Amino acid sequence: MKVIITADHAGMTIRNEVKDLLDEMEISYEDAGVDGTSSVDYPDYSLAAAKRIAAGEFDRGIFICGTGIGMSIAANKVKGIRCALVHDVYSAKMTRLHNDSNVIALGERVIGAGLAREIVKTWLETSFEGGRHNRRVEKITAYEEE
Ligand code: RB5
Repeated sequence: MKVIITADHAGMTIRNEVKDLLDEMEISYEDAGVDGTSSVDYPDYSLAAAKRIAAGEFDRGIFICGTGIGMSIAANKVKGIRCALVHDVYSAKMTRLHNDSNVIALGERVIGAGLAREIVKTWLETSFEGGRHNRRVEKITAYEEE
């Protein structure tokens, strides 16, 4: 699995925690910034990383900003992206099982680094259930072609 991680200035602490987790899990990733601490615009980072997933360069994305909301709104504008804004472990599991989400968005001003780690670990380790859920996801994909 190839993962791309991106964050704005408000998501850098959890971004670093997630990078440590992926190192421990021996999952390869690219850190697509932000690099400094100055204020940036989350759509620039979310859209750039989402487009690289949609192009097939990466399998999954982990996007972090202050609330996770801006990152998720922007990511979901990109065709082929199913971004779930998640702040609990149950939703992390269910969005893989039922929605086959390929991006997770987290808010550093909402949850702590410890919970973020558990959420990301669960999300990465859970497979899509398929079956009736496949039909539902396909309806979203079909809508993108309208
Ligand atoms: C930055 O202040 C903040 O607006 C951003 O990180 C994010 O929370 C937007 O949704």
